[in-house]
Amino acid sequence: MQFQDPVLASFRRQFGEPAVVVRSPGRVNLIGEHTDYNYGFVLPAAVDRGIAMALRPRSDRRYVLHALDLDRRLEGDLGELAPHPERWPNYLLGVLDQLQKAGQFLGGFELVYGGDLPIGAGMSSSAALECGLAFALNELYGLGLDRLTLAKLSQAAEHTFVGVKCGIMDQMASLMSQKDHLMMLDCRDLSCRFVPFHSPVKIFLCDTQVGRALAESGYNQRHGECEAGVALLRKYAPEIHSLRDVSLELLHAHRAEIDPIVYRRCRYVIEENLRVIAACAALQSEDLSAFGRLMNQSHQGLSKAYEVSCPELDVLAEAAVALPGVLGARMMGAGFGGCTINLVQAGQEEAFIAGMAPAFAKIGKSPKIHACAPSCGTERL
Ligand code: GLA
Repeated sequence: MQFQDPVLASFRRQFGEPAVVVRSPGRVNLIGEHTDYNYGFVLPAAVDRGIAMALRPRSDRRYVLHALDLDRRLEGDLGELAPHPERWPNYLLGVLDQLQKAGQFLGGFELVYGGDLPIGAGMSSSAALECGLAFALNELYGLGLDRLTLAKLSQAAEHTFVGVKCGIMDQMASLMSQKDHLMMLDCRDLSCRFVPFHSPVKIFLCDTQVGRALAESGYNQRHGECEAGVALLRKYAPEIHSLRDVSLELLHAHRAEIDPIVYRRCRYVIEENLRVIAACAALQSEDLSAFGRLMNQSHQGLSKAYEVSCPELDVLAEAAVALPGVLGARMMGAGFGGCTINLVQAGQEEAFIAGMAPAFAKIGKSPKIHACAPSCGTERL
């Protein structure tokens, strides 16, 4: 059975033959966390888990959305879009809203989606959903939009209908990734460089299974703290527009005037950008130990200076780095729960899974570990 089969079966039962079927992947991020909305660098990859989406056009302007795994359904009119009190439809409604605001004429459609991407685990099921729908409608109605445009409007959908002021990493990773490559993305000019990743290491995610209750408020708050830092530094250096433009020297020179929390946040972001650049160099020279050390440093920064970790993430990351064959481990994504990402030497996979059991016991959870491989971006099936 293929991962899209339940979606196809449900679609056929309800509506008949779909006109477009897409696969839209989740993502991992090797390093570069909370740097995207500061216009810095990130190193994500789409993964071999995602959302399958089947659609068929209608002759009127009504939409029918069916979330198979949630067993929820919503119908409405394209002329009357507004954020919904439930969460799941907003990723989709936000995309419809953005497409229409961009002047695209959409007809009605029926949609069923589902997949094998853990929801709320920090693997970007939200971007997979947004990008999947944007991509599918682009195909269904021949809109002729390129992937970059689809990524930008998916991000805008999340800002407006979901209310999270996310950066663009997840949407770019979901739409633009290439199989067996990591994507070094410059979030300022949105240029990507693809770095081959078929080295003898495996990516494992350890899921804390901690609901990310604080993720949204904490996320927007961090965003605001970074902006506060930039606003203050601009008084002295008007040429800067984001933390991407700020050096450690400039930040340090004004330490006395900056709120200590804002200072810590800014320092983390500037250092994390430097780590992404160093990590890419390490990857290119096949120095995976150096790459792993940078991941470990990233976790320390996220936990101590940026303060977006949680006790469960800290326990899992700390336990992993002590295991043989683990090159690096850190929390991944927005934080406050979700997964750690672990780089494990090939041949040590089983030892890693067994070795993590006591750490899961310590956080009172049964082990939940996902192996992931870098895959291609959103595609038509
Ligand atoms: C979430 C956001 C991304 C990014 C990460 C943290 O996944 O959607 O834009 O900011 O958190 O790196």
